[in-house]
Order: sequence, then C-alpha cells, then structure tokens
Amino acid sequence: MTSLVVNGSPRKANTSADTPLLYFLRNELGLKGPQFGCGLAQCGVCSVLLDGEEIRSCVTPLAMAEGKEVTTLEGLPNRWARANGQSGVKDAPLHPVQQAWIEEQTPQCGFCQSGMMIKATELLEKTPSPTTAQIKEAFTTSGPSPRLCRCGTYTAIIDAVHRAAGIMNKG
Ligand code: FES
Ligand code: FES
Repeated sequence: MTSLVVNGSPRKANTSADTPLLYFLRNELGLKGPQFGCGLAQCGVCSVLLDGEEIRSCVTPLAMAEGKEVTTLEGLPNRWARANGQSGVKDAPLHPVQQAWIEEQTPQCGFCQSGMMIKATELLEKTPSPTTAQIKEAFTTSGPSPRLCRCGTYTAIIDAVHRAAGIMNKG
C-alpha cells in the first residue's frame, strides 16, 4: 500500500506500486487535470508537483510518491491559500497562475495547459520574478523534454507567467 498526500489530503493506494502515478490520480481519485498524452515523458501534459518539483506522472511509479505530497491542477488554489497561511480554506480563490491564464486567455484547445500551469507554479515558487529568458529556459530545457503545445500558445504562456508573477508578488 502506498501512502501519500494529494492536494492536501492523505491518501492510501492499494494499486500496485509500479502503476504510473497518473493512472492513480485520474482513474482512482478522479483528478482530470493531469492529462495523458505521449506516455513517454516527452510532452508534459501529465505534469504534477511532487514535493514542489514538476514531474511527469505518466512515467513515475506510484512508489516514488510514497510519503510525499502531490499537487495537481485541482490543488493549486489550496496550495496558494496554504502558502499565504490560510490552511484548510474551502473554496480557495484561484491560484495566481490560474488567474493569469484566464486574464491572458492563454489556452486554445486547452489540452496542454494543465501541465503548463504546473510548470509555471514550480518556476514561480523558485524564481518569483523570472525574466523572459528564464521562462523560456524553464519550459524548454528543464525537465526531461521541452513542453509541447500543439496549438502554439507559447507566447501567451510567457505573458501569463509574467502576469502571474505580478499577482504573486503583490501577495
Ligand atoms: S503524457 Fe506524460 S509527458 Fe506526455
Ligand atoms: S492549447 Fe492546445 S495543445 Fe496547447
């Protein structure tokens, strides 16, 4: 049995420890933020945070999450609330990254955007005011592969990360 914390709640998984984390999140917990795309750690649509680090959940066995904290797109509002000392907030407002994504009208089809927002959150927690070059680096050369958007929203993503940084830095 694997014990982990998902979006702030303790969870136990009876699923085999070598099951991809993505399958547990989507099929057992019904969290549809992380998507299935390539299944090969190449596109980034399945990204979640594991103890604050962006990982590709399609190739991460459940066992790797033992005793750790997983955050999916659905958990971002609560993560932001807790970061601001408001633990246990129900109906927490959107995370600034999600708010910025809406304000910039970033998605087109939306398929890749959960993973993009997870990556943006990881970046902004480590680098609160990234330059455009740092944003490009985070989305292209950090992690196992560049993050892919088949709709080509890359410029809008850069604008949204800058906007999210502005919201977060205001607190
Ligand atoms: S589905 Fe995991 S990286 Fe593509
Ligand atoms: S918005 Fe369509 S794949 Fe990125």
